[in-house]
Amino acid sequence: MSHYDENTLEEVRRANDIVEVIGEYVPLKRSGANYFGLCPFHSEKSPSFSVSPDRQMYHCFGCGASGTVYQFYENYLHMSFPEAVRALAERAGITLKETEYSPEQKKRKERRDKLLALQKEAAYYYYALLHSDHGKHCLEYFKNRKLSDETMRNFGLGYSDAFSDDLYRHLKKKGYTDDILKDSGLITFDERGVRDKFFNRAMFPIMDQYSRVIGFGGRVMGDGKPKYLNSPETDIFDKSHTLYGLFLARRSRRGYFILCEGYMDVIALHQGGFDCAVASLGTSLTPGQVDVISRFTKDVYLSYDSDGAGIKAALRAIPMLRSRGIMPRIIHMAPYKDPDEFLKGLGPEEYQKRIDEAENFFIFEIRQLQTQYDMSDPGKRTEFQRETAKKLMGFKEQLERDNYIDAVCRAFDIPVQAMKQLVKELAAGEARKSGMMGHKAPDKGQAAKVSADVKVRQTDKNQRLLLSWISYRPDLFGTVSKYLKPSDFEDGVLRSTAEGMYRQMEKSGIMNPASIIDSFDEVEDQNEVSRIFHEYVRDLQATPKDERGTAFVQTLSRAVAKAYDERMNALEETDVTRFDLIREKKESLSEISKLRIPNA
Ligand code: UTP
Ligand code: MN
Repeated sequence: MSHYDENTLEEVRRANDIVEVIGEYVPLKRSGANYFGLCPFHSEKSPSFSVSPDRQMYHCFGCGASGTVYQFYENYLHMSFPEAVRALAERAGITLKETEYSPEQKKRKERRDKLLALQKEAAYYYYALLHSDHGKHCLEYFKNRKLSDETMRNFGLGYSDAFSDDLYRHLKKKGYTDDILKDSGLITFDERGVRDKFFNRAMFPIMDQYSRVIGFGGRVMGDGKPKYLNSPETDIFDKSHTLYGLFLARRSRRGYFILCEGYMDVIALHQGGFDCAVASLGTSLTPGQVDVISRFTKDVYLSYDSDGAGIKAALRAIPMLRSRGIMPRIIHMAPYKDPDEFLKGLGPEEYQKRIDEAENFFIFEIRQLQTQYDMSDPGKRTEFQRETAKKLMGFKEQLERDNYIDAVCRAFDIPVQAMKQLVKELAAGEARKSGMMGHKAPDKGQAAKVSADVKVRQTDKNQRLLLSWISYRPDLFGTVSKYLKPSDFEDGVLRSTAEGMYRQMEKSGIMNPASIIDSFDEVEDQNEVSRIFHEYVRDLQATPKDERGTAFVQTLSRAVAKAYDERMNALEETDVTRFDLIREKKESLSEISKLRIPNA
């Protein structure tokens, strides 16, 4: 649950009509029941961004962005959820009650605040050490790496001393107890005693987007192993949603992000004037980090290492970024290994040129694919071209696909007409295979690949469709709830959404999707639920009107069949109620198949 209760959120939302709020930033024009404009979340020439006064939600049919007034402020003005609530309350002249925390929330908040203060204290300590006698060789190390004093200050770089417990003693003196130090990730307690996690390392404080220190990376000065040590995750350090350098990049005026691999890359880029550089931390890119990035910009340049590992990491990152509407471009750094070395070798002007010449992600992918084939062998060459055709199928829109066919054929010397023909044949085959419900055939290969990378975001499609249906057609709620309980929905966002919808319908018979969205704490979840309410309606709109009733029946029937299977799976092998379930399943499915749903 959010920090603000449902009533407060509802009151503030009511006082801020979404058409007026968005209208302050995006020119909107009425068309039928909705308003349309150019989407502020991706660049487009014809308006596919719609705002619905009835539902008090926005949705872009181009990039999938959607939500309530709150998400608009979060995503457009880059605010946190509580900030958005406060800003909109202020806009409407509503005075919010001082947030009332439960005693438990209060304790949690105090502990987090204390952990934050502790990290800050440690950062000051390391910073002071770097500039003391003890830190001379570390300062020398940074200077050898061509970092200016200003850069070191901006990033709060420091030094951890060669003593094994000086930080521990310092923090104790400052009043921190073992209890909190244990949770800080900076001190190790074990049978051998108490030790600092970092010693004799060059220290890189890791800041969240509000410039608060939440953890550290520490590098050996030289060739020792491990090269970098990083703070473990703590109550305030969630690696999968943190990006190094974001606290500066979010204020950049460049309008895009440069995503790279290392701490030093980010620092060197900022020093070179590229103040929009960020990096994932020690791990490869996570779906959570992609969500964070896509809240700030949809324009991303990848500046990964030019070695094999870097290429692999880029190939992995591309579909993840694509799944959030980002079409990344790839910066080439040859003959250098990473941005840090490139800048030292050729300087910022040359790097800017590389940005301007950055390669489209798709051409990059195909070029990497090509390296696996012996192009002088006609058979292998054909295989490569077939594989390329399959990848081109990933572009659903005809115009876009044709543009990519042209570009790829030009880049790889393939006859355009032959490639067009091949893609057409493959597409026809796909359409035959999945001629269900009038939906556009999803590209299985592409979908599978995306889902491997962003597993967490792949939820049951039939269940999503049903929730989307009843959000638009509350008249169908009775039919759905007769066969499915909220607990039949997949654990997580889907189930919480179902629970919210069922509760509203049972209590008042009125559906309020906006309030369900805002009951989620995390912006990722809010976006996810907004998409549930919209994404699949697009599928419905692609379904001819006179087939919608049958499409609904099919979806319901699939979802119910699966729900019964799940209920049976949950039973003990010998449970006799299994037979009741088998009978019930049969009866329900037969009943459902006889339903006549109006094609609205
Ligand atoms: P790199 O090895 O490319 O480091 O690892 P780098 O940033 O270029 O470092 P320098 O230039 O040698 O100082 C990229 C990132 O992977 C993580 C760090 O976040 C690093 O910045 N990493 C690397 C670790 O967490 N541990 C390691 O042992 C190595
Ligand atoms: Mn490096």
